[in-house]
Amino acid sequence: MKNELLKILRSSDDYISGELISNQLNVTRAAVWKAVKSLRAQGYNIVSMKHHGYKLENSATVYNERELRALMDRSELLKNIKLFFFKEIDSTNLAARRDVDSLEGINLYVADKQLAGRGRLGRSWHSEPESGLWFTLMLRPHATPEKLANLTLFVGLCVQRALLKHTGLEIGIKWPNDLVIMPYGQKVCGILTETVLEDQQVRAVIIGIGINVNNSAFANDIEHVAGSLRLASGHDYDRGRLLIDILHELLGNLHEFENKLDSVSSRPSWLEAYSQACVTLGKRVTVVAGGDLSCEGMAEALNPEGDLIVKMEDGATRVCHSGEVSVRGLAGYI
Ligand code: BTN
Repeated sequence: MKNELLKILRSSDDYISGELISNQLNVTRAAVWKAVKSLRAQGYNIVSMKHHGYKLENSATVYNERELRALMDRSELLKNIKLFFFKEIDSTNLAARRDVDSLEGINLYVADKQLAGRGRLGRSWHSEPESGLWFTLMLRPHATPEKLANLTLFVGLCVQRALLKHTGLEIGIKWPNDLVIMPYGQKVCGILTETVLEDQQVRAVIIGIGINVNNSAFANDIEHVAGSLRLASGHDYDRGRLLIDILHELLGNLHEFENKLDSVSSRPSWLEAYSQACVTLGKRVTVVAGGDLSCEGMAEALNPEGDLIVKMEDGATRVCHSGEVSVRGLAGYI
């Protein structure tokens, strides 16, 4: 009944009388009023005016399964994707993992809050409610694990492009796939890609993406490195619409990842675009490979596999693989 009521309210830019709604839904006026109250409690801005009826305003800013589904159903590319929305969950990556054997196709897991958000290299990820986009896409690519080794870089490029288009903010990629707001380099997005194998074959790829959207403050341990779209722009963003734009950019361009080679460099074309957006290149960095092992050098280039080539102080060259190291700029986070 609430879905039908929303449908009716969405169909008009003007007020619709309670009587008309109750006739259309074949329920009493009191039942309409009860449904309106319940939708308001869920965050829908339904205004009412005496002798005029009800009108829905700004429904897009409501972030729930119903609104996301409605947005996805409007897109040919997204309408067949299964959506799971959680008000609260341990981690959307873990939720996807639990479904690897029971679900096929493309699945999307979205949470308003994560209790055990996971980051790269065994770190945790702060996932406060009503602030960020915490979501995971589970795909079933027909590819070898080697072929997918740098998918996470490609995903970083797609999200960077989507954020750039959506916000107009200057957003760069800190190798391998942190997105940072320039010129100071606050981290606004992190990506954790996990591959599930079965008999050496790829069973599923789990792409977890965390974006600080409307956060206005951060916990002490990350406040010196973290940023949000809101803090950078001075205003809030509609998380649902931003998510739709990111999914379009990513799923609409997945064919680019099929390794069309650049004619000059004979690297994948997308890696050329990635290099352009990568703010790590040309910077002095510290390479941290777990424990105390760290060394300094100049981030010089990316090889065709997307590994970072660092020229060390002693003149030696080090090839850094994305899964193993983190890099820190000597003058700060980037
Ligand atoms: C990083 O360390 O930079 C990667 C962070 C990835 C966080 C996202 S939030 C949605 C998804 N679920 C998780 O538990 N982690 C990823």
